[in-house]
Formats: sequence, structure tokens, C-alpha cells
Amino acid sequence: ILLMVPAGLPVDAVLADLKPLVKKSDIVIDGGNSFFANTTERTKKLKKDGIYFIGTGISGGEQGALWGPSIMPGGDPAGWPMVKPLLQSIAAKADDGIPCCDWVGNDGAGHFVKMIHNGIEYGDMQMISEAYFLLEQLMGLGPWEMADIFEEWNKGELNSYLIEITSKILRKKDDETGKPMIHMILDTVGQKGTGKWSSQAALDLGVPALTIAKSVFARIASSYKEERVAASKILKGPKPHFSTADKQGFIENIRKALYASKICSYAQGFQLMKRASEVYEWDLNYANIASIWRAGCIIRAQFLNNIKEAFSAEPNLDNLLLYPYFRDSIHESQVAWRQIIAISIENGLPIPGFSSAISYYDSYRAELLPARLVQAQRDFFGAHTYERIDKPRGQFFHTEWE
Ligand code: 6PG
Repeated sequence: ILLMVPAGLPVDAVLADLKPLVKKSDIVIDGGNSFFANTTERTKKLKKDGIYFIGTGISGGEQGALWGPSIMPGGDPAGWPMVKPLLQSIAAKADDGIPCCDWVGNDGAGHFVKMIHNGIEYGDMQMISEAYFLLEQLMGLGPWEMADIFEEWNKGELNSYLIEITSKILRKKDDETGKPMIHMILDTVGQKGTGKWSSQAALDLGVPALTIAKSVFARIASSYKEERVAASKILKGPKPHFSTADKQGFIENIRKALYASKICSYAQGFQLMKRASEVYEWDLNYANIASIWRAGCIIRAQFLNNIKEAFSAEPNLDNLLLYPYFRDSIHESQVAWRQIIAISIENGLPIPGFSSAISYYDSYRAELLPARLVQAQRDFFGAHTYERIDKPRGQFFHTEWE
């Protein structure tokens, strides 16, 4: 039995309805966006009744439903061999013919991985929208010119479903007014909660998934439309003003900024899964996860082949940024990335995605952080102690500061 119902109470309600109808060894698959901890509980509970519960992430939207989605099954491993042929046959196939469906891990692992997929989806969408905003607000380009740019970008290393639909969105005219559709849409974004859950998981697990969280906050900030309009008349900032002799060069720099930020956002998502796998003992296979995301899902992208390659070569890779391909890509894009962020800030354009990505990068690669002062302050006012550079880790000291 495959359930496709909204997460939360509806799942419990349907499971309750099913209870008198199912018998031992039946298999119930929850294909919605359920919270992973609920899936862990449901798997354990149903196992007691002899029911195999498979908590399955499914991504792909309406197209995926028609042409094959990306499927991330987890839950009771005893049920997997029985549903494997079914799920793999309906899943999307990557270019090499491999189905975008494989066992993710026990209990809530499948739904956790789908949740992170959505967190990454939020990040991708936010950063693409920042690139669009710079092209429009800084460079003054029109929707059709921008559609051409995204179409061009889709031929290179940014090749992905979300870049493809961005170009289509920018090309679309409103039937009623004949104006570009993008200009008719109110600048507020909704959400159903998976990005928020990813950010909460990042806080719970202690992973600095800045870009994923900033993308959620950017949606929240967008919802204050009336307050923003009122504030725009009171709070001063620079009027975006910019000119360049090298228009193509500047567009290329925005593309590089987007690519470098995207690498950092995915590094965060995979860091989160790595930490969760350790804490929940899921033994996640990151190369398989990247492989499953190569087709059918919303974040499908050419770039996932590189991630698959990275984790196939080094299954225990600490961070995607350390893999030569990604390290070199960032090194190559870095000057452009920093320049675009600096110009955006100088011009008063909000870029929470790009700027959080570079903060993640600069913090991760920092031999020294300002954290020593925070720790000293903690010790000053609360005797919270600190470690010393000249003593082994794990020994704690306190100073009488005054
Ligand atoms: C998918 C999508 C899908 C859904 C999201 C949208 O992978 O097919 O992610 O799960 O469209 O829930 O999420 P928000 O409403 O939170 O943007």
C-alpha cells in the first residue's frame, strides 16, 4: 500500500484506518514528506504488528509523477527486497540507465535524505533568484535577455532542472496583460516546512548549514511585504548604480558566484547527512544518494555526477569542498565570487544565499577564528572555562579576569 498524503496527522489517520485492514507481512509505504523522526517511530510501531513500513522520500513534482520521480526509501530493511523491483521500475533513470531509487537506510533515513534534498532545493532556488536579481536590478537586463543567459548557463556546469525552468519562467508572458509573467508575481514565498526542518536538524546536529537556513529566512523575510514597502520609504540605502565596459565578463562573474555558492550549499547538505548518519547509525552511502538525485527530482543536475564521483572515490570524505574537482572549481571562481558579493553589498542588494555560502567557505577553511574572544567573554562573565593553545585539547582553564 503506497500512501501519498500530506505529512503529519493525515499519515497517522490513514494508518489508523488501515490497521484493521492490513495483516502480517503487508507492506505500507509512506511516500509523502513526513518528518523523519515520525517515520522512525512509525517503523518501530508497525514492526510490532508484523507490518513492514517503508518511509520513502519521493521528489519530482507533477513531471516526476508522470515520467518517473527520484525515490529515497528507508524504514524497515526487511521490506526493501519486496518493494525494490516495483520502486526501481517506476523511478526515473539517469543517463547511464541507473534507476534513481536505492535503499537509503533504516528507520527515518529515507525521509531525512528527502528533507535534505528539499533544504538543498531551497538553497538552489534562493541563489538562482539572487543571480536573477543582480542581472535585473544591477545590470538592468530585461526578462528575455535574462532567459537567454539562463539558457546559456544551462549548457555548462550549472546545467540543472531549476536553471532550465528559470529560463522558461523569464520567457513567459502573462496572458492577461501581455507583460513578462515574472513582473506580475508578488515577491513573497511560501513554504511547507521541509527547509525549516533541515535547518532545525542542522542546529540539533551542530552543522553550520548556513545557506540552507538563510534560504528559509529569506522566504520568511519576503513574507513581510507590507512592512518592507513601508520601511523602503524610511530606511535609506544606496540606489543600485552600476556600469561596466565588460558586460559579458560581469555576467560570467555572476555565473561563477552562483556556481561557487552552489558547491558550498551542497557541501552543507552532505555534511548534515554525514553527521546524521553518525548520530542515528544509518550508514548512509553518499555516492548512492548523489546518484539517486541525478534524475527525476527537483534538484537534478549534471553536477550530481561530480558529487557521485567524489564520494565513490572517497566514501569518507569529510567535506565536498576538499575533493579536488570542487576545490579547484572554487579556486577558479573565487575572485569573481568575492567581487560579485562585494558589489551587491555596496549597492544595497540583499544576497543572503551568496553571502552565507562564502561565510561557510571562509569559516571552514579558517585556521583561526574570532571564537577565542567569545570563549574568553564566556569565561569572564560565567566562568565557562577555555582551552589553551599550549595545553592538550580537553583540559579546561579559568581566569580571574578582574
Ligand atoms: C519535490 C519537492 C516537493 C514539494 C516541496 C515544496 O522534491 O518534489 O520538493 O516535495 O514541491 O514540498 O516545498 P515548499 O512548499 O516548502 O517550497
